[in-house]
Amino acid sequence: MLAPMQGLTNRALRTLFINRVQPDVVFTEYVRAQADIKKCISDSDRREIRNECDTTPLVVQLIGSNINFLVAAANTVQELGAEHLNINLGCPYGRMTTNTAGGALLKYPADLPLMLKSLRKAILGSFSIKIRSGYDDPSQLFSLIPIFEDCGIDFLIVHPRTVQQRFKGLADHNVTADVVRKTSLPVIANGDIWTVADGDRVLSQTGAAGLMLGRGAIADPLLFERLRGNYSALSTPEQRAEELRDYLQELFLVTRNYSVVISRYYGK
Ligand SMILES: Cc1cc2nc3c(=O)[nH]c(=O)nc-3n(C[C@H](O)[C@H](O)[C@H](O)COP(=O)(O)O)c2cc1C
Repeated sequence: MLAPMQGLTNRALRTLFINRVQPDVVFTEYVRAQADIKKCISDSDRREIRNECDTTPLVVQLIGSNINFLVAAANTVQELGAEHLNINLGCPYGRMTTNTAGGALLKYPADLPLMLKSLRKAILGSFSIKIRSGYDDPSQLFSLIPIFEDCGIDFLIVHPRTVQQRFKGLADHNVTADVVRKTSLPVIANGDIWTVADGDRVLSQTGAAGLMLGRGAIADPLLFERLRGNYSALSTPEQRAEELRDYLQELFLVTRNYSVVISRYYGK
């Protein structure tokens, strides 16, 4: 899976990945549930959640703190065509943590069952959770597993750093392995997968059902194909230069196409 990355995995970049390396699943950047029951999500998010590809499932990720606003946002994105939804329980940054959304929700685990059950009731397709190992305690996730199972979650994506850790240190995939052992839910491992060796190690160490690639895929989109064995595991510096040139050229073209669409839309 291609990870959700705010500021990166917009429609243009997702299209490029789908065309070039076909991730099995792609995610939107997080879509904020707005504090407005009528508007629910922003106009730019309305455009960004459009799935223009029949072959690759798109998961729309929601972020927010208020249950009513989150449910309204879930209903809105489904009316707009979203089939698969995810909730962000991991984002460690700024407004998310001060507003008790994203990773900050882990400070109030007692509030999670009502939120997740309300969302589960509203979501018709798959409903997944993307989570860190805990707010400040890397073993917190284990105490949440029964809640996730009880609330009818379809799968978990685990980035095994705490929220407070942000991106410091290394993702501890021993935690992912323990989560896999302790739940019957499918677990997708995420964090610090930069090479084929990393991906193979994380899969065999954790027994996870799959991998989610973030920064590693941005640095090297071919990592998807390398991990599948469809492309060499390592490239020479000359091959790497050529791969990067192609990637940047295609990114430029696809971004320009989307910019044209957007400027037509606004009549600019
Ligand atoms: C620039 C950037 C933006 C991100 N935005 C999101 C986001 O919108 N939603 C989310 O769940 N995670 C977000 N993340 C976290 C990634 O999805 C992923 O969990 C994290 O980068 C660890 O995986 P990696 O080591 O493969 O990058 C973001 C990460 C980066 C670097």
